[in-house]
Parts: sequence; structure tokens; C-alpha cells
Amino acid sequence: MIKNEIEFILNDKLIKIKDIDTNVTVLNYLRINRKLTGTKEGCASGDCGACTAVTAELNNNKLKYKSINTCITFLYNLHGKQLITVENIGKDKLHPVQQAMIDNDGSQCGFCTPGFVMAMFGMYKNKIKPTNNNIDEYLAGNLCRCTGYKAIKNAARKMYSYGKNDKFSKNEKITIKLLKSINKNDVIINNNKKQFYIPSNLNNLIKETQKLSKFKLLSGGTDLALEVTKQNQDIDTLIYLGNNKDLNYISIKNNYLHIGAATPISDLIPKLKNIYPSFANMFYRYGSIQIRNVATIGGNLASASPIGDSSPALLALNCSLLIQGKKQREVHIKNFFKSYRKTSLKNKEFIKEIKIPILKNC
Ligand SMILES: Cc1cc2nc3c(=O)[nH]c(=O)nc-3n(C[C@H](O)[C@H](O)[C@H](O)COP(=O)(O)OP(=O)(O)OC[C@H]3O[C@@H](n4cnc5c(N)ncnc54)[C@H](O)[C@@H]3O)c2cc1C
Ligand code: FES
Ligand code: FES
Repeated sequence: MIKNEIEFILNDKLIKIKDIDTNVTVLNYLRINRKLTGTKEGCASGDCGACTAVTAELNNNKLKYKSINTCITFLYNLHGKQLITVENIGKDKLHPVQQAMIDNDGSQCGFCTPGFVMAMFGMYKNKIKPTNNNIDEYLAGNLCRCTGYKAIKNAARKMYSYGKNDKFSKNEKITIKLLKSINKNDVIINNNKKQFYIPSNLNNLIKETQKLSKFKLLSGGTDLALEVTKQNQDIDTLIYLGNNKDLNYISIKNNYLHIGAATPISDLIPKLKNIYPSFANMFYRYGSIQIRNVATIGGNLASASPIGDSSPALLALNCSLLIQGKKQREVHIKNFFKSYRKTSLKNKEFIKEIKIPILKNC
């Protein structure tokens, strides 16, 4: 049955929402609707990290934590996830990452601090070893204009010495149970003549795209959301692909790497490392961890921007794309791009898969 509301856990409470504008970002929802103003707005374009929060999603019965830029994440993307904000992590007692920031003088004016704390929290929850490289990788999406990075990096280096288990580890079973209780059916939000669709599988996605006359597909939103936050546009109908299980996969079959179009780049990197290490390394310079945690290759290709970083490598690797409309067709990448920001995608079609040949001696 189709639901008309989304459900997610805001810190530790299950929330249902249906009556908020479908173009509202997580950041504005937190600050305006919930008065949770710890999460800051610096740039509203995913560049400064001041708005960083962390999501937890179910993955093989475990929680997978991801730092995100709330300024370019639409509220309704949160369906089925937990959102953790800076107010909550140290509610009863300072979190190890917060204590480390204090003891290492990691903050001056404090504007960037909640973002850094949450980026560090994302690193902590993923149990990342605090080496120089790893700290750079996890904090590269956060800017500070007064403290300087030395003190902040020292805090990251020492955060585990303040405790390796936090309240989130202790509450893991409860969180998993709550996330499992969320209905995984399709969602359609209708609000003030705007719609937000969350088809849960490929068939339902095909049905919706064939039925609707005008819509925009939303994967990570790291290109699309800027139309709202920077260009002040309204997007009437959004179809969110991020929760679609049939577009979220990586597999190897018959000497091809098959990547579901909605697979986040951060999930792809570890798999790509064994096949094309230089291509995988290139992705460490792609935006920041907050961007890579949600951004997809599908979105990068469909944007058809000449500065898109995945296309040169994919062209060199002779990849092809599975394009899905009423029927499916395969298009070689060299025939996919038509001109500046123009592709061969027809009305009602979307990218379903990126198919990369696994070449020997590469
Ligand atoms: C701070 C920042 C840093 C960035 N750094 C880089 C960088 O280093 N290199 C780089 O190349 N890019 C970068 N980008 C741009 C962006 O992150 C990438 O292009 C990203 O891969 C887009 O993917 P997405 O899933 O977020 O796409 P979305 O924003 O969801 O979608 C982008 C476009 O593709 C369409 N679309 C999405 N999925 C599909 C699909 N499956 N089929 C058909 N159409 C689809 C959407 O309708 C939209 O028009 C950056 C962006 C930001 C904000
Ligand atoms: S406000 Fe700068 S990244 Fe979100
Ligand atoms: S402490 Fe002022 S910007 Fe970082």
C-alpha cells in the first residue's frame, strides 16, 4: 500500500511527516521547524560543512553511519533513516569527539564547530583509524576560518582516547528495531501542488515515470538541490531514487562491473579499488565525504556537465549505460552525451545501471 507520509528517527524519536513543502531541506527543517539551531548554514551549497549531520541506515542488520550536508538534502530523503544532530550526541554527557575538541582547543568563534564535531562523529562511528590521511579524508568537507586545522586534527587524532563506545553503540538494538518498524512501501507526498515520490523498487519507478507528465529525478541531490538553495527555483515533482533497492547495487558478472545508478560513490570506492585502483583514488578527490556519501555516478552522468569527473574515466573504459523507459536499452557512453548538459535520455527515461568492462592489464 502506498503511504502518504515519511517516517524517520530524529535523534531518538520516530517522526512522521507529510505536511511540509517537498523542497524543504533538512537544514531548514531542523533550524526553522524544530528550532535545532546547532546545525549551521554557511554556504547552502555543500562546500563548507557547517551544516553536517549524520544519518544511520540499516545495512545487513547493522547501522551504517554517513555524514551528510543537510543544506542540500531534501527533508523527504530521510524516509527510513535515523538523523543524528549535534544537539543529541552530547545530551547527557559530552561525546568523546566533543571532549576531544575542547581539550585540544579545536574551536574559536565556534561557527564551524558543530559541523566539524559531526564530521568527526561520522568518522568515530565508522571506527576509522585516526591517521593523517584518514583525518584529511573525513574532515576535508569542513572549513574553519579562525581556529586553523592543526588543533582540530589533533582532536580527531585523540578522540578515541575519550572512549570507544558511546550511547549510540549502547542503543544500537533499539535503533535497529525502530528502523525495521518503518514501512518500506512506496511513499507519495502531496503538498501544496508539489509532489515527492519514493518508489521502493524498479517496477514502481517505471510505473510512476510512465504515468507522470513532468518530473525531476533525484538521486543524491548534490547537483539538483542547488537549483533550490542557490537558484531559488521550485521543483514541483521529485522522484527520489536513493531508497530504490533495485538501483542500489554493485556486482561483477561476465567480466563487467555493474553499478546501480543510485549507488552512492562512497559505497563504490572500496569495490572499485580492487579493479581500477587509480579510478578509485580519483574519487577521493570528488567533493568531500559528505558529498560522496550520497552523490551517484548516475547523477554525475545525467548532469552532463563538462566538469563532471566520472565521465573521462568511464569514456576511457568504454562503459555503457542501461537506460530504462518502458523498455530497456543499452547505450555506449560515447553516444550518451549530446552537447553541453544534454544527453540522449528521452522523455520518461532514466539511467538504471552503469556497466564497466573489467579489462585485463589495466
Ligand atoms: C560541494 C560539491 C562538490 C562537488 N564535487 C564534485 C567533484 O569533485 N566532481 C564532480 O564530478 N562533481 C562534483 N560535484 C557535483 C555532484 O556532486 C556530482 O555531479 C554528483 O555525482 C551528482 O550526483 P547526485 O546523485 O547527487 O545527482 P542529483 O543531484 O540527484 O541529480 C543530478 C541530475 O541528474 C538527474 N538524475 C539523477 N539520477 C538520475 C538517473 N538515475 N537517471 C537519469 N537522471 C538522473 C537529476 O534529475 C539531475 O538533473 C560536487 C557538488 C557539490 C555540491
Ligand atoms: S551550509 Fe555549507 S555545506 Fe551546508
Ligand atoms: S572556529 Fe571560527 S570558523 Fe572555525
